[in-house]
Amino acid sequence: MEELQKTDPQIADLIQKEAQRQASCLRMIPSENYASKAVMTATGSVLTNKYSEGYPHQRYYQGQEFIDQIEDLALKRAKELFQAEHANVQPYSGSPANMAVYLASLKPGGRVMGMDLAAGGHLTHGAKVSFSGKFYEVRQYGLSRETGLIDYDLARNLAKEFKPGLIFAGCSSYPRTVDFAAFGEIAREAGAVLCADISHISGLCLTGCHPHPFPHADVVTSTTHKLLRGPRGGMVLCRQELAAKIDKAVFPGLQGGPHNHVTAAIAVALKEASLPAYAEYCRQVVKNAAALARELMARGFSLVTGGTDNHLALIDASTMKLTGKVLAQAMDQAGIVANANKVPFDPRPADDPSGVRLGTPALTSRGMQEPEMVKIAEFIHQVAQAPQDQANLRKVRDRVAELCAAFPAPGIEI
Ligand SMILES: Cc1ncc(COP(=O)(O)O)c(C=O)c1O
Repeated sequence: MEELQKTDPQIADLIQKEAQRQASCLRMIPSENYASKAVMTATGSVLTNKYSEGYPHQRYYQGQEFIDQIEDLALKRAKELFQAEHANVQPYSGSPANMAVYLASLKPGGRVMGMDLAAGGHLTHGAKVSFSGKFYEVRQYGLSRETGLIDYDLARNLAKEFKPGLIFAGCSSYPRTVDFAAFGEIAREAGAVLCADISHISGLCLTGCHPHPFPHADVVTSTTHKLLRGPRGGMVLCRQELAAKIDKAVFPGLQGGPHNHVTAAIAVALKEASLPAYAEYCRQVVKNAAALARELMARGFSLVTGGTDNHLALIDASTMKLTGKVLAQAMDQAGIVANANKVPFDPRPADDPSGVRLGTPALTSRGMQEPEMVKIAEFIHQVAQAPQDQANLRKVRDRVAELCAAFPAPGIEI
């Protein structure tokens, strides 16, 4: 940070404050994590200086002898880890990875089916406010009112009737297992390409903690941050027969030069994710989420679907006569950072919904286990008892600080 201090002390100071914040609060937004020092070193490297339009060994610029080796390594590791025939690690993030799948599989105005944003889908799966809802004809499936689980019958009937060219399976706030095999059947019956977006659960899929999307999906997309603990980026994995279309869609269809510093950091994260310690980490993420859910319910919280199978849980705060926003803001003041979120069939608006979404990836990266989840459930309960009482929130904040001090945040030096 010395150089940055000299050049731009304002930004250096803000980065240090953010590092302090990340170290001293309980980060429970399920899409966030701690990247390792090694990943951050690659992200902050000289590779940011290089232009490399094209793909390894087929570039439009000279001087690629090392960049090609870096991207080759990232691709080899991605294919091995995700058991994929083909990989593309150039998408700038998860949304551009999904855009590439649209471009590769549909004509403008083509038909796509995805999970409703309000039910836990992602913006890029057909939401009206996103490019996907503006440039394509969309039908959305959702959840069963009785169970809160994905309504596969509804999805099947919709696909039969609508005949989409592309179906997205995958979610941003769904606490249960996604049945990729069922989606595979639905897509085959409709003659659609199936894209499994595993951005949230990538690590669980590759370590056996969640069923794998291959061979059911034709294409798999993922962010490289979140559970994978890499830099902010995206990837597309697919069958060989779709490879040329996907590559053309990413470059030159959507993007120019790849972010080589990010490609290198993705390669590092994939190496880390291939180690036994990462599988152990993912198993603990799931165990921690289950423990947290159990302890919250034991203290009277109502959770959507009555628990979790993966890394996240959704509190329905309405049963405690609170809104999601009030609870999330009070938790934040107490040092527990999560996000307000819609619950299934939520009568409240998206900017002031009924739920709070919580996840365990970042806590688990700090080494926290089941006993710590008991404490955290207790903290959240104490916050919910008196969310406007500043003295109450300060008491919880002190206990949060103690817990954080006992579990240093990886990759952060204060
Ligand atoms: C399921 C899913 N897909 C795609 C994305 C988009 O990723 P990004 O924010 O990197 O564009 C997200 C991000 O939260 C996500 O949850």
